[in-house]
Amino acid sequence: MSDKVDQFGGRLPRHIAIIMDGNGRWALGRGLDRALGHRAGAKTVRTIVTECARLHKENGGPDYLTLYSFSMENWKRPIAEVAALMQMYIEYMRLERATMMENNVRFHQIGRLDHLPPEVLDEMYATLDETKNNTGLTLTLALNYGSRAEITDAVRAIAKLAAAGKIRPDQIDEQTVSDNLYTAGMPDPDLLIRTAGEMRISNYLLWQISYAELFVSPVLWPDFTEAHLQEALVSFSQRNRRFGALDPAK
Ligand code: IPE
Ligand code: IPE
Ligand code: MG
Repeated sequence: MSDKVDQFGGRLPRHIAIIMDGNGRWALGRGLDRALGHRAGAKTVRTIVTECARLHKENGGPDYLTLYSFSMENWKRPIAEVAALMQMYIEYMRLERATMMENNVRFHQIGRLDHLPPEVLDEMYATLDETKNNTGLTLTLALNYGSRAEITDAVRAIAKLAAAGKIRPDQIDEQTVSDNLYTAGMPDPDLLIRTAGEMRISNYLLWQISYAELFVSPVLWPDFTEAHLQEALVSFSQRNRRFGALDPAK
């Protein structure tokens, strides 16, 4: 057993979700353009994905890492910033496919596909296809993602099933809803990390995080390192998750 397993008491989250925030502040603090903050943030993505893939392999967890990289609300930003972000997703997926293959990472995307530039979709499908047989960490990019839109899409899909007589309204349960979300088949996040200090969810995985443990780090995403991730994991390992029941140890 390595020191790291001891450090986490063998309790690593199966699914980590991260709201990667603070790229803009990182850039502005250095007198740089916000786009350079996003570039620095992409390097952190590489570091954290690699670290999670390593933890998955050596310590048996996490199995899923879900990163919030572009929200549906982010279209409200200046055109130049959105264009720089879209260009970065293209480059990230193109460049990172080899690393994903090396690390046995399976790529996945959640979010609406409309409005995404065709080049982003091309790289996304290429990455999905190339990594589809990998058996290690599942890396999900929330790209053009909004939780209320996801829930609305699920309601629509279930209504269609009902209208077609494929499901009776009284058969609809929580599992039906989960099965019709973009995250169908994935376990709910156990740990939700937000960087850059903001105490809000910003329309991320509202249904799925109902019992996630929250960890807000003051560190801006481009400055977030393996050590900061470990801090979140140690904190998680010390939480007492009761899910509404009483603490069995007391
Ligand atoms: C997060 O960083 C990245 C995206 C939302 C795309 P921000 O760009 O929101 O950084 P701040 O919040 O302005 O510092
Ligand atoms: C949330 O960050 C979205 C992503 C990290 C992609 P924002 O910076 O967009 O969130 P708000 O605007 O502070 O709520
Ligand atoms: Mg922000």
